[in-house]
Amino acid sequence: MAQLEVVGVSKRFGNLRANDNISFSVRGGEVLAVLGENGAGKSTLMKIVSGFLRPDSGRVAVDGQTIPIGDPQAAIRAGIGMIHQHFMLIPRMTVMENLILGREPRTRLGSIDTRQAKQEVEDLSKRFGLHVDPNSPVESLSVGEQQRVEILKAFYRGAKILILDEPTALLTPQETDRLFGSIREFARQGLSVVFISHKLDEVMKISERVMVVRAGQLVDTVDTGQTDAFSLARMMVGRDVDLGASRTTSGLGNVVLTVDHLESQLSKGQPLLGPISFTLRHGEILGVAGVEGNGQQELAELLAGIRLPSSGTILLDDKRVDSLPIRRRLESDIAYVPADRQGEGLVLDLKIWENFILRDYYRPPFRKGLGIDVKVAKARTQAAVDAFDIRPNNIDLPSRALSGGNQQKLLLAREMSRNPRIMIVSQPTRGLDVGAIEYVHHQLMSLAQTGTAIVLISLELDELMKLSDRIMVLFRGQIQGIVARPEFRRDAIGLWMTGQKGQEVRQ
Ligand SMILES: Nc1ncnc2c1ncn2[C@@H]1O[C@H](COP(=O)(O)OP(=O)(O)O)[C@@H](O)[C@H]1O
Ligand SMILES: [Mg+2]
Repeated sequence: MAQLEVVGVSKRFGNLRANDNISFSVRGGEVLAVLGENGAGKSTLMKIVSGFLRPDSGRVAVDGQTIPIGDPQAAIRAGIGMIHQHFMLIPRMTVMENLILGREPRTRLGSIDTRQAKQEVEDLSKRFGLHVDPNSPVESLSVGEQQRVEILKAFYRGAKILILDEPTALLTPQETDRLFGSIREFARQGLSVVFISHKLDEVMKISERVMVVRAGQLVDTVDTGQTDAFSLARMMVGRDVDLGASRTTSGLGNVVLTVDHLESQLSKGQPLLGPISFTLRHGEILGVAGVEGNGQQELAELLAGIRLPSSGTILLDDKRVDSLPIRRRLESDIAYVPADRQGEGLVLDLKIWENFILRDYYRPPFRKGLGIDVKVAKARTQAAVDAFDIRPNNIDLPSRALSGGNQQKLLLAREMSRNPRIMIVSQPTRGLDVGAIEYVHHQLMSLAQTGTAIVLISLELDELMKLSDRIMVLFRGQIQGIVARPEFRRDAIGLWMTGQKGQEVRQ
């Protein structure tokens, strides 16, 4: 019998059908992957299963017993444990305190029985290989360790059905491997695992079956052994997707950017970044890897001119640009696609075509007399909107009407069409669907082909390995290592990302 059975779940948000009559089941000892693009309805479905959301219709049963709907406590009692995309731990409390919160075992006299709790937690960590120091405050743990605490917490509450919502999103490759090892162990011990992801390779690697959802609907459920990444991508997107080959490095030009002892300081005197030095050639894509918050944002801002360095120089060809403000820097052919689309990127109240000319409205080809050549501006925008398949295809709409993915496409379209000599791109595909990601990758590679030098900052190591000629790893604001394409190795780069220099890792 299926351990978890979900029947006919539907959920609307206003006019949006986030889940439309979805049914599925998971057996004990099985890993079921739930695959779908951003916004497909995966998290909504799992929040319903774990009682955090009340569906409009449908039911959830565990071991054949229907459980009360919209009741997280009932779901926990039935053995459903959900690991959310964003952890729900209390940073200042220790691992142990977080684990037993709300479930403190009591002695007969009513005080907290820490000894028994410790023993239970120790047993669980041993049984599942989830090691973490129970006395550490949660805020001192790495993301991977925090995730182990979340999983332990679910087990401590008796979970036998574990739901993991995009669990690898913030993990390093090593942490991901380790998590996959644990997941296999959970399944081996007879637990049911629901693994949610939008990454094809992960789904292929870890699951027995894959359920694909698209726009709130169940597309199909297939045996992983009977399918491949290409078919899954087609089900996920609804049309053929070119999964694209990696780039091969060829014909790099002269050095165009020289960064020398660049440093950005906090007021306390502690450097946020640097001092760092590197060069960039025409036509080169330099990937910048690192765990979030290790100086990537500062680097992007220093190169783009939003932040001025405390010391060091940036040379564009032989000209110093480090003290030029952003507008002058943009005029010297540095384009910038920030991670935050709405801060430095788009003005959401402006129309799509107005955003498209935002950087260059005061100069040709958009300037006409004292005003703007609206005809040219609109024609250029329309061409870009068509090329990037930005939807809705209506350049007079305010940019606010676009979804996050389409805003990102608009921003990329604008910056790419400026034909920059250097392009700084931060998280260009975050929140985009597979089809759009492939398109953006293709565009970045073509742009490099025409000689633009690209600094590509991304948290997705796969993306960096696919597109970059070299990968530079930042750790605590320092360059931990730089490696060129033939020597890319996930494990070595992953070690650098955590600040380790493994023996076999060399520059
Ligand atoms: N609380 C909410 N209110 C309104 N819309 C929501 C809410 N939660 C999710 N949505 C919408 O429902 C759709 C499915 O979202 P979600 O389940 O988070 O997708 P996924 O996890 O597959 O990325 C999206 O279009 C999202 O914007
Ligand atoms: Mg989600």
